[in-house]
Amino acid sequence: MENIPITIPYVIDLDDHEGSGIPTLIRYHANGEREEEMSPVMDGEGPHRLFNVTDTVMCKMPTGVTPEEASRMAHLHSQGYETFFVDSGSMYLYADGKRTVVRTGDIVHLQPGQMHAMASIEDVKWRGFFHDLDSFDDGWQSTAVTQRIPGAADDPAYQKARGARDYLKCEQPVYRDVPPEEMGAVRNPARPLASYAFDGMTAKVLVPRWENGGVTECVLAEMKAGFSFRWGYHPTREQYYVRSGRVKLTVFGEDYIAGKACLVNVPKLAPFSLTALEDAEVYDMGGQTKWFAFLQDYASVRAYDPARLGDREAMQALKDKYGIPLESMGLE
Ligand SMILES: [Fe+2]
Repeated sequence: MENIPITIPYVIDLDDHEGSGIPTLIRYHANGEREEEMSPVMDGEGPHRLFNVTDTVMCKMPTGVTPEEASRMAHLHSQGYETFFVDSGSMYLYADGKRTVVRTGDIVHLQPGQMHAMASIEDVKWRGFFHDLDSFDDGWQSTAVTQRIPGAADDPAYQKARGARDYLKCEQPVYRDVPPEEMGAVRNPARPLASYAFDGMTAKVLVPRWENGGVTECVLAEMKAGFSFRWGYHPTREQYYVRSGRVKLTVFGEDYIAGKACLVNVPKLAPFSLTALEDAEVYDMGGQTKWFAFLQDYASVRAYDPARLGDREAMQALKDKYGIPLESMGLE
């Protein structure tokens, strides 16, 4: 593979590592079977190390090993938040003294101090979005260095320079089996915390801001074909994850297509639009937009004072209150 580039593309296809230039680091069990294929996709940035993304295949647990033995990678993070999309396969997830099976379509949200362990029943595509976590937040840059300097990864001086890792190894967990809906860490778009229907788009809150240390939130926009968001100068970088369907990103007058399993990165301050070319599931992962508070207020206005919806100034004030430079939102 070519050395990874320094700039971040607007669209990164997680189902095409070769084409996207995403490196893969493979870890093996003692018996030679694959344990995981870890790919750093984007580094963290800013005081909360936002935008940090990895794409990992958590390989089927090794032959002759029980889930309990496989679950010995139990650990917790003292400060970091992790949100994982389970995009293929199934696995045991241990958390909060419970065990459940998570499957394709689930989302796992883990908070600081929450012990977790996994044991894959089959290979799992495990797409991770992090903040306040130092374990992976320099994955892209550290890989760029170890690709260029043979042996650096095993050099104690390199490891020391890379710094401490927010990773506390825990004992093999004691647990009871529960269905996924009884494990708080497991989220699914079929059971959102809240859901708001618009003409052409339904917004679903999967992880609210208060479960992310106030830093970010995970909100799904289920867009019907033809639905479009148009933004003015966006005060922060933005990041979306397209889990299904196809959308068009228009930025600086150019169009980029993002399909299933694509990350969309919008540079800070760039006005842009996002249009669904077919029905699409788009998750806001940058989390800077205070969607949940805005959606609650919007629903209240729609229910109790619908005349205000036609008042441009009042609606602009509502958007300004939550820092939402949205120019339009609807079917085009
Ligand atoms: Fe973790």
